[in-house]
Amino acid sequence: MVGFLREVALVIEFDPEHSTFHLKGNSSSYLLALSPSRDPQLLHWGAALGDGDVVQLARLWRTKAGDPLLEKLRRDYASFGNNDLRSPALHLEHPDGSRISAFTYLEHEITAGKSVPHGLPGTLVEPGDKAATLRLRLVDGLRAQQLDLYYTLYPEMDILVRRAVIKQMKGTGCIQKIMSASVDFPVAARPYWSVSLPGDWARERMVQKAELKQGLVRAEGRRGSQFHDMSPFLAVSQGPPAEDSGPVWSFALVYSGNWLIEAETHPSGRLRINAGINDFDFKWRLDEGESFDAPECVLAFASGGLGAMSRNLHDFVRGRVCRGPWRDRDRPVLLNSWEGLHFGFKHEDIVALAAEGKALGAELLVLDDGWFGKRDDDRTSLGDWVEDVRKLPQGIRGLSRDIHALGLKFGLWFEPESVSPDSELFRKHPGWGLTLAGRPGSTHRTQHVLDMSRAEVRDHLFERLSHTIEDAGLDYIKWDMNRPLWELGSDAWPAGRQSELSHRFILGTYELMGRLRDRYPEVLVEGCAGGGGRFDLGMLCYQPQFWASDNTDALDRVLIQWGGSLFLPAVSVGAHISGIPNQLTGRSTPMRLRALVAMSANLGIELDPSTLSRQDKNELATALARYKEIRRLVRLGDLYRLEDPFAGPRSAWSIVAKDKSEAVVFVVQPLASLPGLDPRPLRLAGLDPAADYRISDLDQTWSGAALMAGCLLPDLGKGDYAGAMVRLIRR
Ligand code: DGJ
Repeated sequence: MVGFLREVALVIEFDPEHSTFHLKGNSSSYLLALSPSRDPQLLHWGAALGDGDVVQLARLWRTKAGDPLLEKLRRDYASFGNNDLRSPALHLEHPDGSRISAFTYLEHEITAGKSVPHGLPGTLVEPGDKAATLRLRLVDGLRAQQLDLYYTLYPEMDILVRRAVIKQMKGTGCIQKIMSASVDFPVAARPYWSVSLPGDWARERMVQKAELKQGLVRAEGRRGSQFHDMSPFLAVSQGPPAEDSGPVWSFALVYSGNWLIEAETHPSGRLRINAGINDFDFKWRLDEGESFDAPECVLAFASGGLGAMSRNLHDFVRGRVCRGPWRDRDRPVLLNSWEGLHFGFKHEDIVALAAEGKALGAELLVLDDGWFGKRDDDRTSLGDWVEDVRKLPQGIRGLSRDIHALGLKFGLWFEPESVSPDSELFRKHPGWGLTLAGRPGSTHRTQHVLDMSRAEVRDHLFERLSHTIEDAGLDYIKWDMNRPLWELGSDAWPAGRQSELSHRFILGTYELMGRLRDRYPEVLVEGCAGGGGRFDLGMLCYQPQFWASDNTDALDRVLIQWGGSLFLPAVSVGAHISGIPNQLTGRSTPMRLRALVAMSANLGIELDPSTLSRQDKNELATALARYKEIRRLVRLGDLYRLEDPFAGPRSAWSIVAKDKSEAVVFVVQPLASLPGLDPRPLRLAGLDPAADYRISDLDQTWSGAALMAGCLLPDLGKGDYAGAMVRLIRR
């Protein structure tokens, strides 16, 4: 017991003399202190501090900490209603209607492990983790609310998970804004820059780097369930961010509802980042005794640039965000019916597709949209999760039997949260749509959204999905969501609670997903939202992989997967080889290129193999076999982004085994080089400099040092749309 307590104290150290809390990561420190007025303030978040540094910093800080102008201070979680008018972390309305809050420290607790927010997904602590949690309890001056701030440090990964819980102690109050984490950065030698991931449908997660100038920048999601236009992630650097050097701080929300990460640069040059539920169209009533839990936010610090930050985040996301038996397994190579057959198929077509896929090396057949109700196009039947016997006369059970007989796993597509106005479900339960009586709302893709805040809706969906999972013996589900939340209203909630709906929608969705995950842990669930529209850490708690985009063009996918890799590990990304010309872009890239782009994530196939030439079929079969040799490395290895596709004529990335015993390198060059130019060598990273690596494809052996100095000349052949995959094995 004593040893255990000592270990926790080694991770989070409270110094009563200086009122500091030192959260000690292996290579980072987060240092908090209580001001004379008991306001938690941030002294440092960055490189690891020694004990002497901490005392020195605390002494220096104390000379300024009592400044009555709060706006000058680095506050760790600022509430609204005082002389700090930067964007607050907390904005409350009190029982008397006032919005003035003054939270001060009451007590704290340091414990091993962590808790998770009520009703929301939370990150895991695994046996052997040294994770420890600091809980600071604050109370408002009028003692109407109590605020708990949680800081869980995973020291081995330099990851800090923060969240907040507010409890109404007296009367009825209202939350106008509650953030999960707030960080005040000091004035730096160079201006702060942000890295965000904006985009749109079919071009998700395009990397955007921008200097943060004076004022407020909001990265946010307002669409309630689809965030193609921005991912809930933001990184910050001092000066333009570099891939392999310099300090980087990042924020990623474990949340899939309306979210906000705002960056406010004060006239002084200080920077505040707030991350949490979006205050846009949000208001939450709190009656006496009620609590509200904000979602978790994952904070990462790395001193080695964006690359080091991503590698820390990848370790964390694949091991402490994703969960269940599939977390630690190689993912099956799947063949999805969508781009090959769309809505037009019959039982025998799917069996034939599966047989072709099996011959090529596929391991799982996924029947996408169109198997239920009377769905011959996207205008009908969502909600009627019963097989269409016109197409599947032997039922899903019969189809599943035939697919399994081929030695393949079998999966189905669902879009549980949506409903077509033209469906049996909607005719029977018109009130189950997320709309108010008298305000029918607009449709998108001819569909409405179900009111996931209603328990009876979730119970119905649980029963329907359970029935199909058990009846057909499903191994896999693709969980799609194709409509943003608009015109939010629900007759299930009173007038004063309508602005709670976007959050209640995602709470309900999480509840349903959690129930299904716990009942059917062996079913692999792949998330999707019109492509990668809500590919975030919240979803990854229920769905260990996600369809990254409806854009399967290999060149565009390099950009989309590159952007996602800032915070999402390769094993969470669905990447398929599709047919040519590409259905969205019309571009015809060679099989070799399409295959290698898919091989650097969870490879799947999304075409009808019977339409392929013999040569393409052979190449595809070879690619699948090669992928199976490297997929464990892709799942567990460290990603090094080598040449940026957003910046140059060529892009390259590698995945290196943790023990540096092997690596795989991917190179993509969209356009042929100008004649007469010497081929450009590639500088690798992350290898053991002293080891020799054999490059079987090139029949060469080089030392890690030479490869990292730029000795590798990948063979890209001639022509446009060139690509190469090179394997390195330590001798
Ligand atoms: C959108 C998804 O992103 C596609 O992959 C496909 O499943 C369609 N929905 C089906 O309607």
